[in-house]
Amino acid sequence: MSTAPSPRVIALDGPSGSGKSTVARGVARALGWRYVDTGATYRAATLAVLRSGADLRDADAVAAIVRRAVIELSVDPDAAGISLDGEDVSTQIRGPEVTGAVSAVSAVPDVRRQLVELQRALIGPGAVVEGRDIGTVVAPDAPVKIFLDATPDVRASRRAGDRDAGVPRAGAAGDVLEAVAADLARRDRLDSSRAASPLQSAVDAVHLDSSALDADQVIERVLDLAREVGLAPAS
Ligand code: DC
Repeated sequence: MSTAPSPRVIALDGPSGSGKSTVARGVARALGWRYVDTGATYRAATLAVLRSGADLRDADAVAAIVRRAVIELSVDPDAAGISLDGEDVSTQIRGPEVTGAVSAVSAVPDVRRQLVELQRALIGPGAVVEGRDIGTVVAPDAPVKIFLDATPDVRASRRAGDRDAGVPRAGAAGDVLEAVAADLARRDRLDSSRAASPLQSAVDAVHLDSSALDADQVIERVLDLAREVGLAPAS
């Protein structure tokens, strides 16, 4: 009797600032796999909605706009990026307007159905997929599921560090950190409490706290888990 082969997928879920993107990219690079940033697809969908001027509370209008949007995600861990209707929007989707509206758009069940379909199609022959519902909804058969977390303070300072690296900011560093912490707490609350596939750990996920670890240590831990199930060659 033959059994279906396990999908070559590593599911990486967790809240903002837990280190998912750096870890997912690093693991994908090490394995020569694809990197699927599902948060970027929700962000591009949100940008489409904002550009349309639609009311964010009108779920039918929001879903219709997302259905018309052409969202193309690069799955190359060394060249992550995303386009909307043919335009590279990789920078714009990280701006405050999109960040402020993305939880509302990603709470619409029909938007989630559309984007989950897109995300699954991107997995291909092997992928590290990061998001909020990967182990529970997008790839429930993934042989390795990680729920990555870190303390709120560590997550806020990581996100504030991201801003230093690219996005213009105003005010003193302490104000920025406080504002980032408040925004993370707001998004975590919305993302965890929505009815449609909220941020939650799969029952079979391995919990990793990255607060006291650097990215390379977390990447190594994930690769160890992949080796244990035969997804990665022994080191
Ligand atoms: O990972 P990120 O911060 O770029 O994600 C942006 C938002 O998208 C986040 O606030 C919640 C939503 N999201 C989601 O609902 N499900 C996913 N699989 C990924 C992201």
